[in-house]
Amino acid sequence: MSAPNKSYDPVEVEALKPEEVARMRDEALAAVAAAADLEALREVKTAHTGDRSPLALANREIGALPPHAKADAGKRVGQARGAVNQALKARQVELEAERDARVLVEEAVDVTLPYDRTPPGARHPLTTLAERIADVFVAMGYEVAEGPEVEAEWFNFDALNFLPDHPARTMQDTFFVAGPGGEAESGVVLRTHTSPVQARSMIDREPPVYIVCPGRVFRTDELDATHTPVFHQIELLAIDEGLTMADLKGTLDHMVQALFGEGLRTRLRPSYFPFTEPSAEMDMECFVCHGESVGDPDRPCRTCSSEGWIELGGCGMVNPRVLTACGIDPEKYSGFAFGFGIERMLMFRHNVEDMRDMVEGDVRFALPFGMEI
Ligand code: DAH
Repeated sequence: MSAPNKSYDPVEVEALKPEEVARMRDEALAAVAAAADLEALREVKTAHTGDRSPLALANREIGALPPHAKADAGKRVGQARGAVNQALKARQVELEAERDARVLVEEAVDVTLPYDRTPPGARHPLTTLAERIADVFVAMGYEVAEGPEVEAEWFNFDALNFLPDHPARTMQDTFFVAGPGGEAESGVVLRTHTSPVQARSMIDREPPVYIVCPGRVFRTDELDATHTPVFHQIELLAIDEGLTMADLKGTLDHMVQALFGEGLRTRLRPSYFPFTEPSAEMDMECFVCHGESVGDPDRPCRTCSSEGWIELGGCGMVNPRVLTACGIDPEKYSGFAFGFGIERMLMFRHNVEDMRDMVEGDVRFALPFGMEI
């Protein structure tokens, strides 16, 4: 850059001639207008307003002009640079708006698409109901017990006082497991009920014994709307000194009220099971109509078929022969037991009409029951 020079003639400085400044300006404006995107505009900006751009270089020449020529040239170059800057800004706004509009279209997210290729599953309501029932007893101090699904015939039948010719042993009800050599009389079955866990618990523990056992059981039934060859039961056993039928009744009342609502009653009807004496079928008062549908054709109740009562399962005082078989002195101890099917309870509790829905494993059946843990 040269110092002011009195004899310097601005007209002779090529870059500051009006037509030259106008040309530089027009060239810059044309380049701005032609910039097709923000990237191109950045390049145009550097080329036409950067330190080495023609207008910046021309601007530097002004410093060397004599004072009387500075104002005129300064104004010319300043106006040209101002026009270019303004055009740049306007084009920037335009291109940004274009980009935003394009991004909205090109990068649009379809929020209705599935967001996850492995959607979450759901716990099966049979599992959560079994846990809920077991919890009622755990809260009373009972222990959750387990036994094998492939069970010795002795535990499944003999220990429970089933005589050798009891019909439940026949091929119609029981899956017999063949022995290693293929022999039919292997003495091993798929357990037909959870009651063998009673015998196992008495043998494993010293009394008092308070156990609850949810589990899978097997019978040779065809799968239809009301039967399934694999189902679930929950078994209860209490052995202590001085237990009576009143304790059984009180325990049933508590369970039914904890699961279905305060004030619901239970009733016992005489029945027969080899492992209890006396034995009873237990019913609970209908939790939907509370018996009010009975004899009232205008108010039919689907849940109890207008019976007023819902059959739950079997119960009774543990047969002294079972206590003896399991090493417990029936003179000192007594006990009660009960057992029932969980599928049946799920059906009447939630109006499930077809048992097959419970075994098919379709998550759409389980999801509406919610994420109970
Ligand atoms: N085990 C019986 C069944 O599968 C149900 C049962 C009845 C269990 C009476 C019990 C009981 O504990 O006392 O049909």
